[in-house]
Amino acid sequence: MEKIIINGGNRLYGEIDISGAKNAAVAILPATILAADICRIENIPQISDVTIMLKILESLGAHVKYINKNTLEIDTRFVDCFEIPDDYARHLRASYYMIGALLGRFNNARVSMPGGCNFGVRPIDQHIKGFEALGCDVRIDDGMVVAHANKMYGSSIYMDVVSVGATMNIMLASVKAKGLTVIENAAKEPHIVDLANCLNSMGADIRGAGTDVIKIHGVEELHGCNYSVVPDQIEAGTYMVAVAATGGNVLINHVIPKHLESITSKLEECGVVIEEYDEAVRVISDSRPGKCNVKTMPHPGFPTDMQPQMATLLSIASGTSIVSESVWDSRFRYVSELMKMGADFQVNGKIAVIQGVEKLRGAHLKAVDLRAGAAMIIAGLIAEGKTEVEDIVHIDRGYENIVEKLKNVGADIKRVPILEPIMSNATA
Ligand code: EPU
Repeated sequence: MEKIIINGGNRLYGEIDISGAKNAAVAILPATILAADICRIENIPQISDVTIMLKILESLGAHVKYINKNTLEIDTRFVDCFEIPDDYARHLRASYYMIGALLGRFNNARVSMPGGCNFGVRPIDQHIKGFEALGCDVRIDDGMVVAHANKMYGSSIYMDVVSVGATMNIMLASVKAKGLTVIENAAKEPHIVDLANCLNSMGADIRGAGTDVIKIHGVEELHGCNYSVVPDQIEAGTYMVAVAATGGNVLINHVIPKHLESITSKLEECGVVIEEYDEAVRVISDSRPGKCNVKTMPHPGFPTDMQPQMATLLSIASGTSIVSESVWDSRFRYVSELMKMGADFQVNGKIAVIQGVEKLRGAHLKAVDLRAGAAMIIAGLIAEGKTEVEDIVHIDRGYENIVEKLKNVGADIKRVPILEPIMSNATA
């Protein structure tokens, strides 16, 4: 096991290259099952959620070959199994995409209920509603989602809540179903568009991704593809907030500035200067950030996956800010960690009132989930003195080389092994 140690206070200068998007990659990898052919996928981030997804594919019989550290060839021609055991599925939320992909290929799926970050209840009723509308029989049997159809037929599906996962899963399941599927009240995140683009590059016929009505004309076959994953909007946003919080001047490369608009506009409201280029943004910050109010919303609103990082910035802003979480029931679990550093938060249900303080103090922190872990790193970068962040497995799920990327722009940050305590005979 390892932890991250940060000596805070350094301003950040230089350039950071953004990796491929986690939440696109973890859907595109299962999508390769539908092609039953060789798919070459570029810009795959080296993160542990991807590693687990590749193990899941290999456990089904797929051949995975690394061409370089971010490019893979996946051959799913010999996949002959449609069951994902608990050992793998419980490690990541995105294992639920295997249900849609296996249904699309075999009309059958047996997948253990998914794991992932703990934000309170995380139902999958909208996924199931979609599969049933396509003609599947779905039941939960001993912790497994068991889905079967004799034949899948296109259907019109209205989502009761805007769900990223359900929208993508229904796309995967319906892409080869007979006839037309219409998803209404669909999610519009950049990773939805990326999955649709990838499936279309395999020969699918998906239109409207990125709007709230997606139309999928079922096709008989999908072929192999050569596809590059979209840049990670949340990784880029995390570094933008880090620079805004520490002060400095950093060019963040390999991004789609349009995907960052909600983050850019909030940072500008705090007084941070953001310059936009074709595929990069420059973040310039030379004074204490100002306050602002943030409400998380599905895309194009402010992303819930940026809420802990933004709240950490606001913890040192001048004035009082209000952060409202409207996507997840329980996404303020990290606040108690920030309060160890002297941050002033009052949380009431899904609303946090943040009274900005001049400084945070270094402390021993835990990453309670992925984005909370990123927020703890930002807190360590701005705090006076030394911060240690434990449980960094959560951070490794979604950030490629976060320590190296921050070190390259001047942060004093390192990973070190956690030494197990030596047990004496008396206590052994
Ligand atoms: N919901 C339902 N029923 C469902 C599905 C969702 O009620 O069947 C509710 C959820 O409880 C939540 C809301 O709908 O209140 C949105 O959930 P959504 O399905 O959109 O979330 P998800 O697909 O499980 C993905 C990302 C999360 C991100 C959310 C929201 C992946 C693998 N995960 O989760 O990312 O927070 O969308 O944008 O794509 C992260 O990357 O750190 C992360 C947690």
